Amino acid sequence: MPEEIVHWVSECSPTVVIDGTYGAGGHSRLLLDVVGDEGLVIGLDRDPAVLARVESEPAVDRLSVFLGSYEQAAKALQASGLEHADAMVLDLGLSSDQLADRDRGFSFQHDGPLDLRFDPENGIPASEWLARNSEKAIADAIYQFGEERFSRRIAREIVARGKRREPVRTVAALVEICRRCVPRGKHHDIHPATRTFQALRIAVNEELDILTRTLQQAPDWLSSGGRLAVISFHSLEDRIVKNAFRDDDRWNVLTKKPLRPSEEEVADNARSRSAKLRVAERR
Ligand SMILES: C[S@@+](CC[C@H](N)C(=O)[O-])C[C@H]1O[C@@H](n2cnc3c(N)ncnc32)[C@H](O)[C@@H]1O
Repeated sequence: MPEEIVHWVSECSPTVVIDGTYGAGGHSRLLLDVVGDEGLVIGLDRDPAVLARVESEPAVDRLSVFLGSYEQAAKALQASGLEHADAMVLDLGLSSDQLADRDRGFSFQHDGPLDLRFDPENGIPASEWLARNSEKAIADAIYQFGEERFSRRIAREIVARGKRREPVRTVAALVEICRRCVPRGKHHDIHPATRTFQALRIAVNEELDILTRTLQQAPDWLSSGGRLAVISFHSLEDRIVKNAFRDDDRWNVLTKKPLRPSEEEVADNARSRSAKLRVAERR
């Protein structure tokens, strides 16, 4: 929802903007125009591949990109000699580059190692997460983060394979389990593995905890009148953003209901269909 981001961020005439999820830099490029010649865009991304790409390209004036979670925004501000930003943008989820990389496990259309980490240099891959957790913990994660009704069956199969000394290590192995456990039906018009992969990605990257902690701290990072815009793709994420904005009186909520992408954008990019944008202003 790039046009909406530019609209809501421009309204507060920012000089310093944090792009907490730099990805391919699409938002940052637009935000460079918003901050003007004297301004600065600070990008953050957890994925070392994103930083490697940025470093292999010619440096861009007024843009600093850091490797790290958006939860570390205060450190990035400090490293830039600043205490506050005037706006911050979060575009949650994964990028098309990550989806296309067969070694990361994000796309269940291609086989590869079942990793699913945004930062493959830290934490544990999804295959290891499955090996270390109990059947109940796996089922709960798939149910809670993926809203998958057949979570218990899937977890049972995963654990049974481990007991047979055939642990689930690859994308294809997990897809095969999902196909067997999730019946095609009116509630399952999507690929049978979609919800399970989403749930595991959220669990392995601790996405909801990081988002929750960040929303609690973000008012400290923004100047008065500054704005935070969050694009989420999952109902749990959206609920976290909605409640954090509503329950903290340092925020003035600017979007009573979440904004949705235009039909044109969805036609152009099918992955945007579940996007929801919420914006709040620091009082
Ligand atoms: C949807 S993409 C962002 C696309 C970007 N807005 C653009 O225009 O190219 C999401 C990005 O957020 C990154 N990401 C996910 N969780 C993160 C976190 N906690 N901190 C920083 N980056 C994160 C992912 O690695 C991915 O590159």
